[in-house]
Amino acid sequence: MTAFKPNRCGIIAALDTPDPAKALGWAENIAPHVGMVKVGLELFCAAGPGIVRDVARHRPVFLDLKFHDIPNTVAGAVRSVCATAPAMLTLHGGGGAPMIQAARRAAEEAAGPRRPAILAVTVLTSFTAAQLAETGVSGGPSQQVLRLARLALSAGADGLVCSPHEVSLIRDALGEAPLLVVPGVRPAGSDKGDQARTATPEETAAAGADWLVIGRPITANPAPAQAAAAIAASLAG
Ligand code: C5P
Repeated sequence: MTAFKPNRCGIIAALDTPDPAKALGWAENIAPHVGMVKVGLELFCAAGPGIVRDVARHRPVFLDLKFHDIPNTVAGAVRSVCATAPAMLTLHGGGGAPMIQAARRAAEEAAGPRRPAILAVTVLTSFTAAQLAETGVSGGPSQQVLRLARLALSAGADGLVCSPHEVSLIRDALGEAPLLVVPGVRPAGSDKGDQARTATPEETAAAGADWLVIGRPITANPAPAQAAAAIAASLAG
């Protein structure tokens, strides 16, 4: 696997747009200030797999398609996206151990030592405790995040996606090894949008995150490169 454990917390800019030209423009302008770019469902579904290779000319790609299906189908999807050489990809931890094991095997078969890191999404950062309970999960986000984290890592995931609120909980329980990728990050004073469990970049980095996934605070800013540079400077300070 390509090692994507940074020495200090880095930024992944989420290129959330259906317009490939806009995504490429953002990637080019933001690249000096971030370590990776994220291709998510909106861009991938509109532009197709080729966009992954296109934006990878600027920065390595975090391919966030959050696979969740039967093991055979997820293994096939992982093999398919390995052809575009993403640095990291996501699946839902709730898909269970056989699905995660199948994804890991498929990545190894398709890409060998250059396989993408496999990250398990725990509980989406937009979920509140009440919304999680509505889905039948009692005990609150923290308990569910830790349950899915343990399951995913023992099934072969390299890391986890969690909200800023669970970073120190995971570090305390599971140590430094898992790659922790954290969306739901909001610089002080910026709009939360649909995110529920948020914190600032500095707080999230101090808690032990490896990567911060930041979308709208960068891309909705009239000057995205300056917004990314300001967040990078706040982390360096
Ligand atoms: O615009 P914003 O900073 O909220 O974007 C966060 C990005 O992280 C979005 O692309 C979203 O899909 C992604 N994400 C998330 N929560 C997760 C996993 C990924 O918000 N649990």
